[in-house]
Formats: sequence, C-alpha cells, structure tokens
Amino acid sequence: ARATAEPTSTAEGLAGLREEARSCTRCPLHCHATQTVFGEGPDRAELMIVGEQPGDHEDLQGRPFVGPAGQVFDEAMRHAGIDRGTAYVTNAVKHFKYELRGKRRLHQSPNSAEVEQCRWWLGQEMALVRPRLVVAMGRTAVLALTGRAQKLADLRGRVQALPAGPAMLATVHPSYLLRLPDARAREQETIRFREDLAAARNWLS
Ligand code: URA
Repeated sequence: ARATAEPTSTAEGLAGLREEARSCTRCPLHCHATQTVFGEGPDRAELMIVGEQPGDHEDLQGRPFVGPAGQVFDEAMRHAGIDRGTAYVTNAVKHFKYELRGKRRLHQSPNSAEVEQCRWWLGQEMALVRPRLVVAMGRTAVLALTGRAQKLADLRGRVQALPAGPAMLATVHPSYLLRLPDARAREQETIRFREDLAAARNWLS
C-alpha cells in the first residue's frame, strides 16, 4: 500500500482538492476539530514536507506549522538554506486530535486507522504536486508515506525511494525537539534536524 495515487477527485487541481477536504468526514476527527488544515505551497514543488497533524494553533488558524513546532521548523529551514515558500508543506492527518483538560486542548497522536483514512488526501496531494523528494518528519509521516510503522532511527537522514513514487528522507518531528528536557540534547538534536533538511536541499540541487 502506498500513499501515491492517480487523482480520482472530482475537484480541479490543488485548490479544488483543498475545498473538498474542508468537508471531509472520512474519520471521526472532524467532529471536534475547528477545521481541516490542508497542505500549502506551490502547485508544483520539488520538495514536499510531511508532518503529523495540525496542533492547537494550526487548528485555529487553518494553516500547517504555524505554532511552536512551526517556529522550530521555520528556523531549521532557514538554517538549511531552504525557502519555506518553495516547498509544499502538509500533514499526514488533516484534523487536530486532542484531549480536553480543563480549557486546554492537549495533543493526542493519531492512531493507525486515522492515518490510514487520511492517507487518501496525502496521495492526492502527492499526485498533483509531484515532488521529487518528500521529507517525512516523524513516525506518523513515515507510516502515512510508506504504509508501514518503522523505527525512525533506522531510516533517519537517508534518502530512499518510495515504491513508484518520489524519494523520501525521514527525520524527527520538530515537536520532539521541543519536548527534550535536556538543553544540551535539544541543541544537538536540533543541529541534526537542520542537517537532515540541508541533506534534502543538497539532494535536490
Ligand atoms: N505538528 C505537525 O505535525 N503539524 C503541524 O502542522 C503542526 C504541528
């Protein structure tokens, strides 16, 4: 099973697909999320970035990677010499999944059924954008792109071919860096994350 697919949507192009995704009810996550957070970027991009799912900020603003993880991501992209505006940035799952604790909405990881349901959209995005390289940030992105749960440590930083699709480079998710309690470990892992993105840039050039 792979995430790439010929476009079968009735919608025209990415704009139509985005519009169609606004009313997606493929899985129950749409019930509690504010809105679908679809990918954004050029209609054709050599580089696609795939995260996990929108967080609290993204859910409210309707754009991927605009919250704290987005800041880490943006900074790493700058360090790697990649203009974010040239990449198509999206998520494996398009609705925010959370648990309510008082007034706070705490992130919950999507389960494999939710990832599977949402892969259709990712496949459509890939078929339309036709990137040469996809950077998978975190395990959920790897699962969505390959259809298999895999250890990130085994894949990280290496470019590999997806079956009948573009190349994929896996790295950590920026939220992982934010969660590291030890400042030194965070610094080292941030450097590695930036190096992985720089490797993506080099592979494309
Ligand atoms: N984390 C993600 O995986 N995606 C976002 O858009 C924001 C946070």
